[in-house]
Amino acid sequence: MEIAVASAPGKVILFGEHAVVYGRPALAAPVAQVCASAVVEAGEPGSGLILDAMDLRERVTLACAGHPLAEIARLALAELGMSEPDWRVGISSTIPIASGMGSGAAVSAALARAIATAAGRPFSAETVSALVYEVERLHHGTPSGVDNTVIAYGQPVYFKRGEAPQPFAIGAPLMLAIGDTGIASPTKVAVGDVRAGWQRETARYEALFDAVAEIVESARQAIAAGRVGELGPLMNQNHGLLREMGVSSPELDRLVEAARAAGAGGAKLSGGGRGGNMIALVTRETAATVANALSAAGARRVIVTDIG
Ligand code: PMV
Repeated sequence: MEIAVASAPGKVILFGEHAVVYGRPALAAPVAQVCASAVVEAGEPGSGLILDAMDLRERVTLACAGHPLAEIARLALAELGMSEPDWRVGISSTIPIASGMGSGAAVSAALARAIATAAGRPFSAETVSALVYEVERLHHGTPSGVDNTVIAYGQPVYFKRGEAPQPFAIGAPLMLAIGDTGIASPTKVAVGDVRAGWQRETARYEALFDAVAEIVESARQAIAAGRVGELGPLMNQNHGLLREMGVSSPELDRLVEAARAAGAGGAKLSGGGRGGNMIALVTRETAATVANALSAAGARRVIVTDIG
């Protein structure tokens, strides 16, 4: 018998990745075409909580200490002040893993939400975000908090570490083509390399982060005012700065170039970099051409999505 169902979307970072770890702002948005979901059913008496990650063919219980699914379930139950229930939770996701679309955070958010809903006390977005952040911290070192925030709130956000997230207004819808290099790239590695660079050449990296921050502020104003045309050049500039931080790769650069050549307004890597995704600003008229060009340039998957 089904007791509760919950889901959480994937996400893209529009502007500001990496610099956001160092206190600069970032803009991120949910991608509803891909999502994680969790379905709670009554289990056998005495079965305890069984977490079935269907795509990974994994079955996890609370005894699996250190497993991200066990961690988020434990945190959710503690938040609710509940002892272990006899439930089976089926978890599935269409969000590509380790590609910068927030798959881990979305699975955690869906599971936490499903447990709270099944308990009859749904969590606020703020609580979901805080719980997911705890798990991200255990597994990813020093996350800025942008992933859990945009996924838990399910709307575009302007995010700055240590400040309340601000959902931002979209003056006119924007359309993105998201191209996946197909290269799995753990965010932790890219973040660690940026840290090493920053320790070696602090002034240079701080200047790069400041330049990113200016782009984020301009982009926020352009998005709010519906001046979508201004975003392409800002994406190109942000990509250039990410290259200077050393987090792009030949594959990402190839997709970015291909999108621009096919008529995208601008393009940049999105997320941790090295592999994972890039995003290109498209219109209804250019979307198909850009998507085809991305596939021809080696993208494993292209998602065209409206933001806002
Ligand atoms: O790779 P993703 O999409 O999870 O994004 C990571 C974003 C970084 O700014 C590189 C790291 C962070 O914690 O914000």
